[in-house]
Amino acid sequence: MSAIMWCATLVCISALVTCVSTAGILYPRESESREVKSLDGMWNFRLSLPDPLVGFKERWYMKDLSKTGPVLQMPVPSSYNDVMVDKKIRDHVGLVWYDKSFFAPESWRQQGYRVFLRFGSVNYAAQVWVNTHLVLNHEIGHLPFQRDITANLKFGRLNRITVAVDNVLLATTVPQGSLQNISTNTGPKTIQTYTFDFFNYAGIHRSVFLYTTPVVYIDDVDVTTNYTEDSVGLINYKIQYGGSLSSGETLNCSITVLNNENVREKFTVITDDEEGLSGIIKIENAKLWWPYLMHEEPGYMYTLEIRLSTTWNVDDVYRLPVGIRTIKWTNTAFLINNKPAYLRGFGRHEDSDIRGKGMDYALVTRDYDLIKWIGANSYRTSHYPYAEEIMDFADRHGIMIVDECPSVDTDNFSDKLLKKHTTSLAELIKRDKNRPSVIMWSIANEPRSHHKEADSYFKSVAIFVKTLDVLRPITAAIATELDTDLLGQHLDIIGFNRYNAWYTLPGHTEIIQSRIEDEAAKWHAKHNKPVFMTEYGADSYAGLHMSPSFVWSEEYQVELMSEHFKAFDTLRTKNFFIGEMIWNFADFKTEQTVTRVGGNKKGVFTRQREPKSSAYHLRKRYWALANQLDGAQLPCNIKSYVIDNDGQNNVEL
Ligand SMILES: *[C@@H]1O[C@H](CO)[C@@H](O)[C@H](O)[C@H]1NC(C)=O
Ligand SMILES: *[C@@H]1O[C@H](CO)[C@@H](O)[C@H](O)[C@H]1NC(C)=O
Ligand SMILES: *[C@@H]1O[C@H](CO)[C@@H](O)[C@H](O)[C@H]1NC(C)=O
Ligand SMILES: *[C@@H]1O[C@H](CO)[C@@H](O)[C@H](O)[C@H]1NC(C)=O
Repeated sequence: MSAIMWCATLVCISALVTCVSTAGILYPRESESREVKSLDGMWNFRLSLPDPLVGFKERWYMKDLSKTGPVLQMPVPSSYNDVMVDKKIRDHVGLVWYDKSFFAPESWRQQGYRVFLRFGSVNYAAQVWVNTHLVLNHEIGHLPFQRDITANLKFGRLNRITVAVDNVLLATTVPQGSLQNISTNTGPKTIQTYTFDFFNYAGIHRSVFLYTTPVVYIDDVDVTTNYTEDSVGLINYKIQYGGSLSSGETLNCSITVLNNENVREKFTVITDDEEGLSGIIKIENAKLWWPYLMHEEPGYMYTLEIRLSTTWNVDDVYRLPVGIRTIKWTNTAFLINNKPAYLRGFGRHEDSDIRGKGMDYALVTRDYDLIKWIGANSYRTSHYPYAEEIMDFADRHGIMIVDECPSVDTDNFSDKLLKKHTTSLAELIKRDKNRPSVIMWSIANEPRSHHKEADSYFKSVAIFVKTLDVLRPITAAIATELDTDLLGQHLDIIGFNRYNAWYTLPGHTEIIQSRIEDEAAKWHAKHNKPVFMTEYGADSYAGLHMSPSFVWSEEYQVELMSEHFKAFDTLRTKNFFIGEMIWNFADFKTEQTVTRVGGNKKGVFTRQREPKSSAYHLRKRYWALANQLDGAQLPCNIKSYVIDNDGQNNVEL
């Protein structure tokens, strides 16, 4: 059916369009030399039915989608699945089509701008036409892609963008899924199945931008930071430019550093090359980037103002936010700015009512406010990269991010899959490499790492990541049993997911403490690496109260957490345990199964971001830890609470 043929189409077309390139993927920011135009809003939309390939056969990209048949209005950014009251849209398998018309101002041509078209993320695969020309072809959701479309635009006139989106997951996509034929009252039907426990949302999930640059432009920037013992902040930078110089034309790059109030900072710069494209910046008495509650001014960000001048062209200016901090890890600890950090956080999802995985600023703001309210300092972007707008908040608020690629429940290891898996990491690292909030790369969640092929497969993935970044540790969330796992050996830091008293012996909270203490110690003993718990938890149906506690009640979720807290407190005294991340921040939607009631309810917040009993419980613990470990002052509206100070550190909470 569609997917297979569609993938075949993808392969032959990718010969025409370069998709993975060495070009940068800087977030579009306006400046004196750049304009940014959002194409967010209502787009025309239609399903490819009944023949999945009808849009290709009839070449829907050659005219307005509305001229090909009836269209709906679909918001961008958003998943398309839950917007309408129509199962056919929610459960659609295969292609959907979007289009939108927009004006490209005549002034853009007069000024000789280049114009880029950039998508923040389209799930899962996308082909994009501008005025009937195929310009982009991208596979793997949750990651941005772009192209210079200047040559395809009609300036001073109406233009059209057409997007074909395919949500089909196969054994060689990241993540994986499979198609199944079922017989129905009206004949055979193809359905999508997958093992991961979240809904396979699809559509144009993040903002679509047009942005302009001068002909020769700043294409990419790499920064790494450090500081000396006498408080000199160091920013190593490397700038890559795009476009080519005319013969005899010279290029010159200059840097200004702004503080977080946008005031010019005093600094010196030593360049490595004549053009100033790389070098090292020194800032006396630099303010470091610290995590939330580890410092009174967390998330301190400077701005690098980069100016690229050429002999005959307009200067290009790009402003990159930069936080100065170091990361280190040993066999037992994770350190930020040479101080051991203990991660208090969550696994999360990009997920909410109606919009699914669509980026939404109100939701992002609410989520960070809840994260700060509860006293967390970190989370993992389970199980895929999150929107850049979400990552920006993490940088500015000092929330530490374990940045995960979209590989979840990985199985059926193959070379083809490996290629896509490493591509997803290359694109993720290119996007997020400069972010101070990103403290680790997570290369997988719950892969079937007991299969013997997993060994060489993950060895290759880990080696690949090290070729791109040696300054951040590699981790993964492992659910395989310790004795049979083949992934841990390739990591720098071990994360493990375990559901004692939930999937294992539900109801028996009396098994938790000893099993967690035992397992964490064994992971450390096996690999001699720091260990953190990347998932534990229980579903609770908000408002269901039962005493004594019973599975699915709010009381049960709280009790299960307390038993884990006891284990974590013992483990903290053993000096190899670096953090705890509960599953999950908020309830989220899953595929339809009899073990889920309207989705996965392991959130400490509901899907509407209201607290359950467990949220208040977690808040007490996270603040108590922040207070005890980092001297953070407790908020005045937290109930009085005492942690013992006799060095045992193992009281509940
Ligand atoms: C992996 O292969 C098995 C059979 O070997 C199959 O049942 C399963 O659906 C495959 N999984 C994926 C994700 O393709
Ligand atoms: C489903 O049926 C179609 C049409 O008969 C066939 O081409 C396809 O290979 C089948 N797919 C699967 C997964 O069995
Ligand atoms: C950071 O600076 C310290 C001392 O100034 C040095 O030992 C260390 O190697 C530097 N780290 C990096 C990644 O350059
Ligand atoms: C580069 O730019 C700086 C500041 O704009 C200027 O002082 C310098 O002379 C330029 N260098 C070259 C080689 O053009």
